[in-house]
Amino acid sequence: MTILIVGATGTLGRQVARHAIDEGHKVRCLVRNLKKAAFLKEWGAELVRGDLCREETLPPALEGVTAVIDAATARPTDSLSIKKVDWEGKVALLNAAKAANVGQFIFLSILNAEMYPEVPLMEIKRCTELFLAESGLNYTILRLAGFMQGLIGQYGIPILEGQPVWVTGESSPIAYMDTQDIAKFVIRALSVEETKNKAFPIVGTRAWSAEEIIGVCERLSGKDAKITRMPIGLLRAVRSSLRFFQWSWNVADRLAFTEVIASGKPLDASMDEVYQVFALDVSETTTLEGYLQEYFNRIMKKLKELDYQKTKGKGKKPKRSPFKNVNNQ
Ligand SMILES: NC(=O)c1ccc[n+]([C@@H]2O[C@H](COP(=O)([O-])OP(=O)(O)OC[C@H]3O[C@@H](n4cnc5c(N)ncnc54)[C@H](OP(=O)(O)O)[C@@H]3O)[C@@H](O)[C@H]2O)c1
Repeated sequence: MTILIVGATGTLGRQVARHAIDEGHKVRCLVRNLKKAAFLKEWGAELVRGDLCREETLPPALEGVTAVIDAATARPTDSLSIKKVDWEGKVALLNAAKAANVGQFIFLSILNAEMYPEVPLMEIKRCTELFLAESGLNYTILRLAGFMQGLIGQYGIPILEGQPVWVTGESSPIAYMDTQDIAKFVIRALSVEETKNKAFPIVGTRAWSAEEIIGVCERLSGKDAKITRMPIGLLRAVRSSLRFFQWSWNVADRLAFTEVIASGKPLDASMDEVYQVFALDVSETTTLEGYLQEYFNRIMKKLKELDYQKTKGKGKKPKRSPFKNVNNQ
């Protein structure tokens, strides 16, 4: 089976590529920057230069491909808008996949997208799901919540560095999942017939509020968090002012996501049936506490090593923060 992965340099895409290669699949990755994607080649993937927003690059990448896994999304820092990448680019990819007679298309969506038509990325995900379902392609849609990898930058590092941790008024609990566990579901979908032409939630073992996550980080790091509450009204004002400038549209569209987080509605779903269909075992899924525990253990070990080196090295202080070196994104 030859799989084309789009978005393989991303947080989730790289785990999908790694797992697909480990499972013995032939993996091709459509990438915008060959240099940035060199690690994928080292793992054994074939690299094809392309861009969702350059339609002509898609048919050559799809030649001889059995299945497409789409893990791409507009980068907040990119000049290309969410509409250009996540809508127009995806429509082009789906049309090209149909023309290339691809056997299966796996799309990574967001849980509860239909509940937030005012949030651009949510509305685009809902529309893409519909477009895919009506495309005539065999498909599997996986609806994700948050990634545990994002928690390190959001809570872990600021708490360790004594920096403020930002929290919106009422924060919705989110069932975060480790991207390595999500990757197992993605690759399993390629071989389990019952996943064809269906959508499934893929979420972590339980939903956590921001306050609960901060509590876990405080306990594991032995430090108190400096919590700064951001009123949702202020975020809305910042967002509308950012919409004013085209270069900051992506940031504004991302900020719209705070509506989801501040809604108070949990981003969570039952996974009992999903584990059965995918024949995976919930006891093997990383818990949020387990994930953070591993992160802080490695940090503490690193700090001890640095302290030892400092004592040995005439008290020279490390110039860079040690915390960023050990997160496993
Ligand atoms: N992050 C979350 O918490 C979360 C939650 C729910 C669902 N999801 C969904 O999960 C999927 C993966 O998200 P992620 O956070 O792993 O993404 P990410 O880390 O932001 O990576 C985005 C990927 O898309 C690629 N990309 C961007 N624009 C492109 C273009 N024009 N043409 C081709 N490739 C392009 C990027 O390539 P470059 O390296 O070249 O920029 C990168 O590989 C997305 O569908 C996302 O909506 C994410």
